[in-house]
Amino acid sequence: MAKKQLVMLVTAAWGIRSSFQSLVALLIAILVIASIYLRQNNEQVFEYGTTHKSSGGLSSRCNLFSGKWVYDNKSYPLYKERECTFMSDQLACEKFGRMDLNYQFWRWQPHQCDLPRFNATALLERLRNKRLVFVGDSLNRNQWVSMVCLVDSAIPLAFKSMDNNGSINIFKATEYNATIEFYWSPLLVESNSDDPVNHRVPDRVVRVQAIEKHAGHWTDADILIFNTYLWWRRRQMKVLWGSFESPDDGIYKAVKLPRVYEMALQTWAQWLEVHVNRNKTQLFFMSMSPTHQKADKWGGIKGENCYSETQPVIKEGYVGDGASPRMMRVVDSVLGELKTRGLNVQMINITQLSDYRKEAHPSIYRKHWETIAEEQLSNPQNYSDCIHWCLPGVPDVWNQLLYTYILQL
Ligand SMILES: *[C@@H]1O[C@H](CO)[C@@H](O)[C@H](O)[C@H]1NC(C)=O
Ligand SMILES: *[C@@H]1O[C@H](CO)[C@@H](O)[C@H](O)[C@H]1NC(C)=O
Ligand SMILES: *[C@@H]1O[C@H](CO)[C@@H](O)[C@H](O)[C@H]1NC(C)=O
Ligand SMILES: *[C@@H]1O[C@H](CO)[C@@H](O)[C@H](O)[C@H]1NC(C)=O
Ligand SMILES: *[C@@H]1O[C@H](CO)[C@@H](O)[C@H](O)[C@H]1NC(C)=O
Ligand SMILES: *[C@@H]1O[C@H](CO)[C@@H](O)[C@H](O)[C@H]1NC(C)=O
Ligand SMILES: *[C@@H]1O[C@H](CO)[C@@H](O)[C@H](O)[C@H]1NC(C)=O
Repeated sequence: MAKKQLVMLVTAAWGIRSSFQSLVALLIAILVIASIYLRQNNEQVFEYGTTHKSSGGLSSRCNLFSGKWVYDNKSYPLYKERECTFMSDQLACEKFGRMDLNYQFWRWQPHQCDLPRFNATALLERLRNKRLVFVGDSLNRNQWVSMVCLVDSAIPLAFKSMDNNGSINIFKATEYNATIEFYWSPLLVESNSDDPVNHRVPDRVVRVQAIEKHAGHWTDADILIFNTYLWWRRRQMKVLWGSFESPDDGIYKAVKLPRVYEMALQTWAQWLEVHVNRNKTQLFFMSMSPTHQKADKWGGIKGENCYSETQPVIKEGYVGDGASPRMMRVVDSVLGELKTRGLNVQMINITQLSDYRKEAHPSIYRKHWETIAEEQLSNPQNYSDCIHWCLPGVPDVWNQLLYTYILQL
């Protein structure tokens, strides 16, 4: 249709006697051609399952992280909460009484292209004889559970297993000899919060220069997905130079944020640079997952939070206060530095897109580890979880983004 209009315009241009008028018409025709050309280039659609290496890389063809949420109850959710064998009670919002399930029905629509459909079989084929490891905090565990649920339905019961041993949790698809793992280290470097169960210590201490104790468990993986953010979100951290085994011999110093975050990420980056086999391992870093603790940021009532929210924020470009731009800049610069030294860590920029989803947290609809006191029950805002995400939900989309990179590279 566009081509037909074009021909008509050009014909009109030649048909007009006055040369000035024809010049104007010709200019219009050129503009139309240019806009059609640009539109075609922007409508690049990812073909599902392509594995070829693209010259420019994904991000230069389309910014997957800039877009909007579209209500789509035809193709979403990608799996059913109760059908996921390894669902976590922390994230099973429907099971714990949430009635409004609209949070399950939103699709992420990048402005310039479409996300490919998630195909569990295609991913498992790609992971054959491989280890995919998520390393980080409970948000990364949230994403790991989502990933396990996404592939779960494609694997018969007899061909999968789950092993939880201390800091490492291993889901295995035996037919593929493929594992999807989660390794708990909320600050990436060593800290006194490294115990996978008892990590809620009031006085947090971190060894910013030490990572090998953890890294030994994942350095040889084929795909590594890191995150670390929330555990750093305080004014300063107590840093230990020395070991946790003989803490009295160490030197302690309080270091402010974001400097201490930068120190830890530099330790992490140096480890990768020296130890990771760049011919083998694909590296990713999940940007900050934003929290929704302050309703007045999105026009709600001051003092309230994500509790009872049922709709995403619609205003495009909305930025709340549940993420830290200066910490994002630290990640950006550490990854940029690594790149100049030949190591590519792809950032999966989920911060903005998740910021819209104030309604997608468990709030009170999850298993709580502590018993909830009577006076708290009368004030649900008080014990709402506005940090993690219900499943099925937002982390499925993070994994869809990840999937896009894993299969395209
Ligand atoms: C993340 O994506 C958002 C939305 O496209 C963008 O505004 C922001 O600058 C990105 N951040 C980084 C560090 O790339
Ligand atoms: C999807 O949502 C529309 C509008 O809310 C509703 O009319 C329709 O019944 C829903 N379809 C399914 C399959 O739930
Ligand atoms: C999913 O991927 C598998 C393996 O690549 C392929 O055989 C199958 O047709 C794909 N399914 C869909 C719905 O595209
Ligand atoms: C199974 O996968 C592991 C990596 O996770 C690999 O080391 C091993 O060689 C694989 N086994 C076979 C039989 O290919
Ligand atoms: C759990 O991990 C520890 C330390 O890595 C190891 O010694 C032990 O054999 C593992 N246990 C099981 C049941 O896999
Ligand atoms: C990576 O591949 C390059 C080129 O194929 C090769 O020269 C190099 O030795 C490989 N490095 C490792 C660590 O395998
Ligand atoms: C929740 O209530 C308890 C007991 O009343 C109080 O100690 C605590 O500070 C409150 N927490 C929040 C997040 O409001």
